[in-house]
Amino acid sequence: MRHSFHRADDRPPIVLLGVTGSIAAYKAAEIARALIRGGVRVRVVMTPAAERFVTPLTFEALTGSPAITERSASGPEISHIAAAREAAALLIAPATAHTIAKIALGLADNLLSEIALATTAPVFVAPAMNVEMYGHPATQANVATLRARGVTVFDPVAGELACGESGVGRLADPERIAQGVLRTVLKAGDLEGESFLVTAGPTREPIDPVRFISNRSSGRMGYAVAAAALARGARVRLVTGPVSLPAPPGAEVTRVETGSEMAEAVDRAIPASTVLVMAAAVSDWRPESPAGRKIKKGPGAPRIDLVQNPDILEKACRNKGGRIVVGFAAETDDLLAHAREKLARKGVDLLVANDVSSPDSGFDVETNRAVFFMADGAEESLPLMTKDRLADLILDHVRAIRLEGETRSVGARDRFENQ
Ligand SMILES: Cc1cc2nc3c(=O)[nH]c(=O)nc-3n(C[C@H](O)[C@H](O)[C@H](O)COP(=O)(O)O)c2cc1C
Repeated sequence: MRHSFHRADDRPPIVLLGVTGSIAAYKAAEIARALIRGGVRVRVVMTPAAERFVTPLTFEALTGSPAITERSASGPEISHIAAAREAAALLIAPATAHTIAKIALGLADNLLSEIALATTAPVFVAPAMNVEMYGHPATQANVATLRARGVTVFDPVAGELACGESGVGRLADPERIAQGVLRTVLKAGDLEGESFLVTAGPTREPIDPVRFISNRSSGRMGYAVAAAALARGARVRLVTGPVSLPAPPGAEVTRVETGSEMAEAVDRAIPASTVLVMAAAVSDWRPESPAGRKIKKGPGAPRIDLVQNPDILEKACRNKGGRIVVGFAAETDDLLAHAREKLARKGVDLLVANDVSSPDSGFDVETNRAVFFMADGAEESLPLMTKDRLADLILDHVRAIRLEGETRSVGARDRFENQ
């Protein structure tokens, strides 16, 4: 999602905070405060149901601007479409099952749902509801629809709910929600000028025209990096193996099947790139001579000879020049030793290692537990988090490596000029 502020002045960006009719509506006040503390302006938009839980006056007092309600918007002074255009982000917190369903369908029967349809800014949603409502297949499908469209969802957490039951449905921590939005809003544009080449997904190595060797990569990590880099102003070329994810809007996409095709596409794209993020799970081997026709079932099993596929990451590192290279390691055992060895052997700037042996990390899930290995030997173990969040942290490191490089080269130039 490429995003610019459209601001005529240099004032802080505006976050539109949509508040809906949840028992957790009072927590929106805490979110508004955390956002303002973080350096943005906040405009609150309330659904009629939200007004049954908190008063517009609470938000006016906190934000310094009247909350936008159905009544206030009937006058000429507030155009909600203008508000949608002006916003750097729309955050709906708490988001009811009802509002989530409407946005998933594109219904627009109140100001907030109209704004949700009208805005081109990044959208964030923090659901809060009863555990059964959240677990209902309808709600789950609606949340999945929003995610697939690039909406960031702050997953509700487990805990005691206002209805007396306990389970997943409680609004995520207000501070965490605010920080997540601030990261996007305040960083929008910090990677402008960078051209990312991101690889993602598995490869398919044909055995015959109907069978192939592949792996369990879903492509989510690479797609999350591509989307996050676009949101932060970079150009993105995405070279992707076969996955079932929608391409992030704004990415230039090259679709490939095999490791050799991926290697060629990467070779072609490297010269125009400044940052390489190699998140694809390229098959290490491929059948030496794929059969031209389907191998018939007969007595005994056929023998399939394998040969090594090109090592795309290693080659990229050999020709890296001033580019920043991020590699990934997926291991099922002895993660740290393997990752350190890979970092040293390949010479990447940042290696993101993840343990794919646990069900909540690595392949085919929304979350990841990773360890960062930096070229200077530093390591950072991260807790379990969404791949979107991890993508943002990876980009923070890319940014830091770039700034460090610039400082170093300015330092070198200064020394040279002073001689
Ligand atoms: C006391 C009370 C608490 C409610 N809490 C929630 C809630 O936490 N989450 C939710 O999805 N709906 C909740 N509802 C139901 C919503 O208020 C209802 O679906 C409403 O139509 C939502 O409208 P809105 O999404 O336009 O704000 C609650 C209703 C009542 C009466």
